[in-house]
Amino acid sequence: MAQTIIVVGGQWGDEGKGKIVDFLAEKADIVVRYAGGNNAGHTVIVGDKKFKFHLIPSGIVHENKLNIIGNGTVVDPEVLVSEIEDLERVGFKIDERRLVVSSSAHTILPKHREEDNPKKDVHARKIGTTGRGIGPCYRDKVARTGIRISEFIESDSEITRKIRPLVKDTCFIINEAIDQGKKVLFEGAQGTLLDIDHGTYPFVTSSNPTAGGALTGTGVGPTKIDSVIGVFKAYTTRVGAGPFPTELGTEDQTNAEGRWEDIEPVYKEALKEALEKANEGDEYFQGKYMRLMGKEYGTTTGRPRRTGWFDGVAARYAVMVNGMSAIAIMKLDVLQGLKKIKICKAYEVDGKITENFVLDTKKLWEVKPIYEEMPGWDGDISDARSLEDLPENAWNYLRRLEEISNAKIALVSVGPRRDQTIVIDDSVLF
Ligand code: GDP
Ligand code: IMO
Ligand code: MG
Repeated sequence: MAQTIIVVGGQWGDEGKGKIVDFLAEKADIVVRYAGGNNAGHTVIVGDKKFKFHLIPSGIVHENKLNIIGNGTVVDPEVLVSEIEDLERVGFKIDERRLVVSSSAHTILPKHREEDNPKKDVHARKIGTTGRGIGPCYRDKVARTGIRISEFIESDSEITRKIRPLVKDTCFIINEAIDQGKKVLFEGAQGTLLDIDHGTYPFVTSSNPTAGGALTGTGVGPTKIDSVIGVFKAYTTRVGAGPFPTELGTEDQTNAEGRWEDIEPVYKEALKEALEKANEGDEYFQGKYMRLMGKEYGTTTGRPRRTGWFDGVAARYAVMVNGMSAIAIMKLDVLQGLKKIKICKAYEVDGKITENFVLDTKKLWEVKPIYEEMPGWDGDISDARSLEDLPENAWNYLRRLEEISNAKIALVSVGPRRDQTIVIDDSVLF
């Protein structure tokens, strides 16, 4: 059993971290966000209610937990206040017993937001940023010209009056809690391949979503961490620009489909068409089927997510750079109906086969994925609650993901709800 767990995204974000954090938060005392800002979009479903969190940790829906926005994050004060007010509107009482913000977190100012505008700024457009001012804020932090939250609240306004009681020196709170034997959950945002150091630079975010970021982003030392859980989809998605070796179809094809509101009126027919064409072997429609089945539309920006097969090469790399103790495989239900499923197990680059992820981004655009094909399964698996409830082919697929990723699976998710979770190994959990 673990006392401290880091939850980290293993791919390009949106893996389902919010659901896993919510699942684990039930037993945690503290949930702490350690990197990123409101570029994140974490979906948590409780009963028939759906919550989308951007800045506030996903543990907030649980009573009697302390949620912390750590020093490694960047905080847009207006967004913070509006998320608090949204929660209060649906009956949550948010005070410093429930939500605390690190005094050392940096402040996203209006000028950061104005600069990071993909419609106006060529750089933001090239990366496909979320346009929330994240990059400019971290740039000012590193240039030592940023404003920390402790300084921001020195001024007097409606916003600072609301935030001031929540601001604390959070590294002491977290370390004292660990010393007292309390359970601490570190909630990752974004994903390993969006990491400023380990991701597909420059098509990355501006912080360290990887496990190391959970240490610098909270002020907790590495010897205090018991377990690192990597969250992966059973396939791959990416929102925004950048190389994506296992992509099905192209970024332009995906963008041309439009947003969720464009698809929703024709969803049923589009899904049926995509499955038929996918099973005839059309790669673009295989990707479109994942997008439709998985409702792969950005939680923060509503953009359609690019989709592709599970990239085992990238997964092995993510397992390595995070030192993952185990992994969670999410959205297995999305693949149902596909007659054949592929897993990328190596790349061909410059005419050579490699099993290592390619760090040179220019080369990564050009790698050719080497696939292994497995038979799919029919029928709905979203009611499965144990491995025995899964069809044999789904089980075989999971086993192969473990081998190729070089990691043990601790959790499998077969639907967005909390109860649609299969626990395989609880020794790395709370
Ligand atoms: P995060 O950013 O990693 O927290 O992930 P997001 O919340 O942005 O995106 C994940 C989406 O998948 C959300 O809409 C979740 O409700 C949904 N989801 C999570 N797990 C599952 C699953 O096992 N099956 C299905 N069908 N949906 C899931
Ligand atoms: P969660 O926590 C998916 C992507 C953006 C863009 C790049 C840089 O929900 O998994 P930024 O605004 O951070 O400067 O954009 O990173 N990106 C995400 N993609 N999920 C996220 O968060 C993301 N946060 C940033 O699309 O490509
Ligand atoms: Mg998300």
